[in-house]
Amino acid sequence: MELRNAAKDAASPAPVSATTAPKTVEINGKSYTTDPWFNVSSTVLSLTSRKLHLQKDHPVAITRKIIESVFPAPTYKYYNEFDPVVSTFENFDSLGFPPDHPGRARSDTYYINKDTLLRTHTSAHEAELFRARASGGYLISADVYRRDEVDRSHYPVFHQMEGARVWDRTKVPNGDLAAAVLADLARLPTHNMKVEDPNPPFHPDRNPLQTAHHTPEEAAAIAAHLKRSLELMVNEIFTRAKAATDPNQTPESASSEPLRVRWVEAYFPFTSPSWELEVFYQGDWLEVLGCGVSQQSLHINAGVPSQSGWAFGIGLERIAMLLFQIPDIRLFWSRDERFLSQFRGVEDRLDQMKAFVPFSKYPACYKDVSFWLRGTSAAGGNTGRGVGAVDWHGNDLMEVVRDVAGDTVEDVRVVDEFTHPKTGRRSMCYRINYRSLERTLTNVETNEMHDRVTKALVEKLGVEIR
Ligand code: PHE
Repeated sequence: MELRNAAKDAASPAPVSATTAPKTVEINGKSYTTDPWFNVSSTVLSLTSRKLHLQKDHPVAITRKIIESVFPAPTYKYYNEFDPVVSTFENFDSLGFPPDHPGRARSDTYYINKDTLLRTHTSAHEAELFRARASGGYLISADVYRRDEVDRSHYPVFHQMEGARVWDRTKVPNGDLAAAVLADLARLPTHNMKVEDPNPPFHPDRNPLQTAHHTPEEAAAIAAHLKRSLELMVNEIFTRAKAATDPNQTPESASSEPLRVRWVEAYFPFTSPSWELEVFYQGDWLEVLGCGVSQQSLHINAGVPSQSGWAFGIGLERIAMLLFQIPDIRLFWSRDERFLSQFRGVEDRLDQMKAFVPFSKYPACYKDVSFWLRGTSAAGGNTGRGVGAVDWHGNDLMEVVRDVAGDTVEDVRVVDEFTHPKTGRRSMCYRINYRSLERTLTNVETNEMHDRVTKALVEKLGVEIR
C-alpha cells in the first residue's frame, strides 16, 4: 500500500483549467484563496461536507464502529471531526516525505493552493496528536482525497482510519520501555487466526531498526504489540464478514475455521520498520492495512522525544465492501433508500449485520472517445515542459468525466493508444461505461452526456477529437 504507485512530476502546475478556477472556495464553512495549483472539481468539493463516517447506520460508519470496538477507551481516544483541508506541511513534510515525492504531484492530489490541499491520508494528523499527548492511543477516522481512475473500487473520496499507540520512556516503571510494552501486550486478548510472519522484526536493508532511537528489544516489543493489536482488529472484522455473508454461521461458529493472515515487509516515510497485513479471503490474499514503528523524528518534532510507539492506516470502503458485499464503491455515496435502508439499525446491533442485496443491475452503455493529445513534439520519451510538449495525465481525463457525468460512469479505460510515425502526435482512445446504479439510462440522455464529456475534454484538456 504505497501512497502512490508511479513516479510523477511534481513540478510547476500546467495551466489546464486554471481559467475556470474560482478565486476562493468554501469548504465546511471556511473560505480559502485559490492559486494556479487549484485543481478540485466542483463534484469533489461538494463531497467534503458528506462525512459518511459519521452518518448513523451508513456502512462506512458501521465499519468505523467495529474497528473502534477493538481499540477501547480510555487507552484510545477517538477523533472523527478533523477538517479535510490541511497544509502540505501536515500531509507530507511533517511525516518525512521528501520534497520530490511522487505523492505530492498535482496529477494525484487535490490542491486548493500551493500550500493547502485536501488530505490524502489520515496520517496528516499524526504529528498534531503526538504533540497534544492527550492519551496513550488515538484513532482518527476521516474522509481522504486522491485523484484516481474511475472504476468500481476507486473513488476520489474515501475514508481511512488511523491508529497510533505511544509509550513514554520517562513514565514507564524503571524506565524500561520494552518491559512496559510487553506487559501491555500480555494484557491484550488472544485469537486463533493462522498468522504467517516469516521475517525478523527488522532487517538492516529491507526494514531497518531505528538504531539511534530504539534498542532491538524495544522495537521488537513495539512491533509485537502492533501486530497483535492489528490481528485482533482483522479477526473481528473478518469473523463478522463471514457471519454476515454466510447466513448459516454465527460469529461464534464462523471462528471455528481459522482465518489466515500474513505480515509483509513494507515502506512508509514515517515508520520503520514497516509492514502491510494481508488476509486470505475468498481465495485471494488481500492487502488490508499499512503500519509500522513510528519514526522517532515525528515524536521529536512534536516536542515529546521520550515518546515512542506504532501507527497504522486502513481504508474503510474496502473493508465495508467485504463486510457487506457491496459491489461498487459509488454506492456509498447513494442517497437511494434501497441502499440506505438495508443498514438501518445495524450500528447499534452489530450482530444483525447482513450482506447487502443489490437492487438489480441496470444495463451498461459503452461509448468511445478518440482524440489527439495537444502538442506536436514527439510524445513518448519527451519529458520536457517546453512549448508543444505533451503533458498528459490520465487522472485529468478521469476528473473531467466524473465532473460532467458524475456517478453515472461505472468505469473508464484506455482501449487504444498510438503515436503517429511521421508527425509524432499521440492519439488515445478511452472507453467510458455509462451505467446508473439507480435506473436504466435512456439512449438520448447517454448520448447527450457523452457529448458533454467530449466537449469538456476539448475545453479543459485541449485535445483534438478524431
Ligand atoms: N497513510 C498510509 C497510507 O495511506 C498508511 C499508514 C498509516 C502506514 C500509518 C503506516 C502508518 O498509505
